Amino acid sequence: MPFSKNILCIGAGYVGGPTMAMIAYKCPQYKVTVVDINPKRVAEWNSDDLPIYEPGLDEIVKSTRGSNLFFSTEIERGIKEAEIIFVSVNTPIKSYGVGAGMAADLQYWEKTASQIRNCAESHKIIVEKSTLPVKTALAMERILTSQENDTHFDVLSNPEFLAEGTAIKDLEDPDRVLIGSRETPSGVKARDELVEIYANWVSNERIITSNIWSSELSKLVANAFLSQRISSINSITALCEKTEANITEVAKAVGMDSRVGNKFLHASVGFGGSCFKKDILNLVYLCRHYGLDEVANYWEGVVRINEYQKERFVLNILSAMFNTLAGKKICLFGFAFKANTGDTRESPAIFIAKKLMKEKAEIVITDPEALNNARIDLDGIEGKISYIQDPYEASDGCHAIAVMTEWEVYTGLNFEKIYRSMVKPAFIFDGRNILDHKRLFNIGFNVFPIGKPPLTHF
Ligand code: NAD
Ligand code: UGA
Repeated sequence: MPFSKNILCIGAGYVGGPTMAMIAYKCPQYKVTVVDINPKRVAEWNSDDLPIYEPGLDEIVKSTRGSNLFFSTEIERGIKEAEIIFVSVNTPIKSYGVGAGMAADLQYWEKTASQIRNCAESHKIIVEKSTLPVKTALAMERILTSQENDTHFDVLSNPEFLAEGTAIKDLEDPDRVLIGSRETPSGVKARDELVEIYANWVSNERIITSNIWSSELSKLVANAFLSQRISSINSITALCEKTEANITEVAKAVGMDSRVGNKFLHASVGFGGSCFKKDILNLVYLCRHYGLDEVANYWEGVVRINEYQKERFVLNILSAMFNTLAGKKICLFGFAFKANTGDTRESPAIFIAKKLMKEKAEIVITDPEALNNARIDLDGIEGKISYIQDPYEASDGCHAIAVMTEWEVYTGLNFEKIYRSMVKPAFIFDGRNILDHKRLFNIGFNVFPIGKPPLTHF
């Protein structure tokens, strides 16, 4: 049976892979191809060992791959065959030239746009899936139409709101799908075609449409609001530690106001992940570009508090452990930026491991999924580091444990056994407030949560 649509996605990453797998899974009538310039990544998508860990992803890929889902490096062919092309390439922070450290690096995105222009032989709908600065669609349109030919392109913005670790659930049952378009007859027609794809499994009231600039900006603002909540609660942890207030109690009291809501108020060692920091800094850069310094400074504060929180965590460890970490063994429980992913991009654990090593501590890292990435992140760093999968073995002979990631497995460990194997006095710094602190204290640990009074035997 011929497929009713040919869909292409350029970029087989954390977004491109799962998003397209979900479309293929929900829409067997469409052919979905995901292409990437990285042959290793494509080979992994075609293997039994997918390049990313995401609960539920394996099953969906296995049930569609080879039927209506394909991973390939043949980008030109893919462009020629597709009617709809999603662009999901990486848009990291620019590390050079004007806007270094703030602006989005659009080199991958621009190469893709030029490649589409050069290969396309018929009308295409181009969908921005990557997170981009507002007004990028205009640049995309200019690149696509910069060559004399009859090919017509419609550019849409369809930002992705999935979170890692819950990507499959988020894709299957999204809070909303946002589609921005030009308000021309051709733009509206293209938008309706994309709506039709999502309508295969998402209810109409959750598919919202807007003008293209609102859509681009909404993605940056959504991430800014989410990270602002974390920085807000984290800023209060510092005050709790000075005043004997308890951040869990404060967050509960504040979050039960239905106007505030209780989500994303979990105090932590700081937020990580590939997007929050880059997207806020991008927003800040855009505001400065438009001369809106007050607005830029306001949002930049969210990132500053996050840096402060990570720094503060290390200083708390140092001060609790008698102001010297030299030669002491510290076990990091978790290295991923959050639970249920092997992703370590911008993980607070990277910053903390490096800082602890500057204090000449020896580091032992344990994580159920992220040890390979941890090795890459800390490659070449001076000092002693070991990577041990089993948390009991990892903490054996250590002076302290620092919880970096909220993996559920850590809450069910036998801490009596762990305590017996550690150097005394034994410390636990719970950077995620996931452990039973009173119980740990009763076992003999000196316990330092975030935003709560410490429980010590001194
Ligand atoms: P990623 O780095 O995992 O994947 C991007 C892929 O694009 C890489 O495999 C890379 O090889 C490929 N690529 C780069 N240039 C290419 C080109 N010219 N042709 C073909 N392939 C090319 O990135 P990601 O995490 O999937 O993020 C992609 C975009 O989605 C970013 O803009 C990000 O901000 C946004 N986003 C990410 C998440 C997330 O949870 N990771 C969520 C929502 C939105
Ligand atoms: C985030 C957003 O939640 C997604 O909607 C968005 O699509 C995505 O960024 C993106 O654009 O890349 P993600 O970074 O995968 O998703 O994960 P989150 O669950 O948002 O967590 C981000 C960080 O904040 C993690 O380090 C997490 O541990 C931390 N966090 C989260 C807290 O410290 N406290 C909280 O209450 C919630």
